[in-house]
Amino acid sequence: AEFPVVCIDGPSGAGKGTAAVMVAQALGYHLLDSGALYRVVAIAAEKRGVSPTDEAAVADIANTMRLDFAVGGADEPVQVLLEGENITHEVRLESTGAKASVVAPLKAVRAALLDYQRHFVKAPGLVADGRDMGTVVFPESPYKIFLTASAEERADRRFKQLKNKGVNVSLAAVLEDIRIRDDRDMNRATAPLKAADDALTIDSTSLSIKEVVDSIVAFVRSR
Ligand code: C5P
Repeated sequence: AEFPVVCIDGPSGAGKGTAAVMVAQALGYHLLDSGALYRVVAIAAEKRGVSPTDEAAVADIANTMRLDFAVGGADEPVQVLLEGENITHEVRLESTGAKASVVAPLKAVRAALLDYQRHFVKAPGLVADGRDMGTVVFPESPYKIFLTASAEERADRRFKQLKNKGVNVSLAAVLEDIRIRDDRDMNRATAPLKAADDALTIDSTSLSIKEVVDSIVAFVRSR
């Protein structure tokens, strides 16, 4: 690649999104939240009344949807616009993450998003987070991180975030959702979640977000 791409992959709730934002800030790089793309495809399919398992129809949506990311305010730093409509709130819902993991196994959908994702590479560099950044989308990148944490720790963090937002859920239900999503993401045939052979694995179970970010930035600078 002409410009460096820092790939951060891992299971849901490992802190990839937060780490990616902070690493991008530290390095002055652009950001790609690839999960948001699968989330938007799931939302767009639902809005158009398309079944999430109709591969050709969902891929057609992925190929033709008009998606924009805009700079927002303090509560929505990045706004997601679908056909000009602000769907930021819906994109971030837990239920949308689950719907995204239903359209994500579809081969034609992943193919439709491949070039789109590669276009995010710009000077001076990119930080991309997701499930297959290092294994499929940017396999040439020397900067691959696999960020993980125990399912219990991920559920605990997610539970606290949701409670802070005033969402009424149980820890057991959050853990169950994480297990279901892990299972779907790791056991699908196309681009399953796994560490690239040359990835640096960071287990964040007992690390602070700052420790995670510092080790990723140090890893990138050391190469
Ligand atoms: O990371 P996030 O929770 O936003 O991702 C939502 C879902 O989108 C994941 O559970 C996964 O099924 C899918 N996804 C994917 N490949 C990516 C990013 C996300 O399959 N690169």
